[in-house]
Amino acid sequence: MKIFIKEFIIAAMKDILFIILNVGFVITVILVITDYNLSQSKYKYVGVNTCVNSCHSTEQQGNQYEVWKSSKHSVAFLTLQTAAADSIAKSLGYKTSASETKQCIKCHVLGKDFDQSELLSTFEVSQGVQCESCHGPGSGYKKLSVMKDSVKSVSKGLIIHTEKEKWCINCHNPESPTYIPFDYEALWQMIAHNKFKPE
Ligand code: HEC
Ligand code: HEC
Ligand code: HEC
Repeated sequence: MKIFIKEFIIAAMKDILFIILNVGFVITVILVITDYNLSQSKYKYVGVNTCVNSCHSTEQQGNQYEVWKSSKHSVAFLTLQTAAADSIAKSLGYKTSASETKQCIKCHVLGKDFDQSELLSTFEVSQGVQCESCHGPGSGYKKLSVMKDSVKSVSKGLIIHTEKEKWCINCHNPESPTYIPFDYEALWQMIAHNKFKPE
């Protein structure tokens, strides 16, 4: 009898230990997932106007705004609102108009299919492929005191490109229904925007 009780207690303790370990594992998984989600939505998109209001618009600062504005990136969403775009979407079998089709939006428009909570009120979806399409959401690095320090900026979400061509090919690839073989040197020259020049 005594031996039976002892075995019973040992078995029960093993069960309890097993449960504690499992609960611990589940909690760890939940924490990891939550943290992952948090880091995904930590920074919000502020829109071109915020980037160029006080900076990135004068000649001395590098004039990134004019370069972007006069490039096709700034009208990429308008392009999707044309009859030509709709007929491309239709010919590919999509039932929605091009500007409402996820498979077109993904390269042509920043933010349209995002959760509203990721966009600040200054953000405008109509601006197509924006600064933040390539440089990452700006709410963390937009302050001048942060922007002046490139290490700080990068730690707060700024993307600076070392492999420029690879980055372009995320969108300039044969998945584009109107694909033109990507000539990096020529196309970069069309959108080259000078470095920020502090006073
Ligand atoms: C987020 C997707 C995306 C990325 C990343 C991207 N582009 Fe584009 N780009 C587009 C789209 C969409 C168009 C077509 C816009 C239109 O015609 O309305 C385009 C058009 C252009 C054009 C105009 C081409 C022409 O024939 O007039 C140039 C130049 C260009 N991109 C250069 C680049 C370069 C250089 C890079 C990399 C540094 C790059 N793009 C990265 C989406 C992108
Ligand atoms: C299609 C992608 C794309 C878009 C859109 C874009 N950039 Fe860039 N930007 C780049 C790439 C790639 C570089 C790296 C150029 C280099 O090697 O000097 C760069 C460089 C810069 C630099 C120089 C950084 C440095 O340290 O030299 C600034 C400033 C900048 N971009 C600001 C902007 C602003 C402001 C906008 C919007 C008005 C914008 N960019 C839109 C891709 C883009
Ligand atoms: C993989 C990224 C990508 C996808 C997905 C994409 N596009 Fe584009 N689109 C581009 C790029 C880049 C250009 C510039 C031309 C090129 O492909 O080199 C462009 C150009 C265009 C143009 C202008 C062509 C011209 O002659 O000026 C139209 C119209 C267009 N796309 C419609 C669409 C439609 C409609 C869809 C969805 C069915 C779509 N795109 C999906 C990247 C994409």
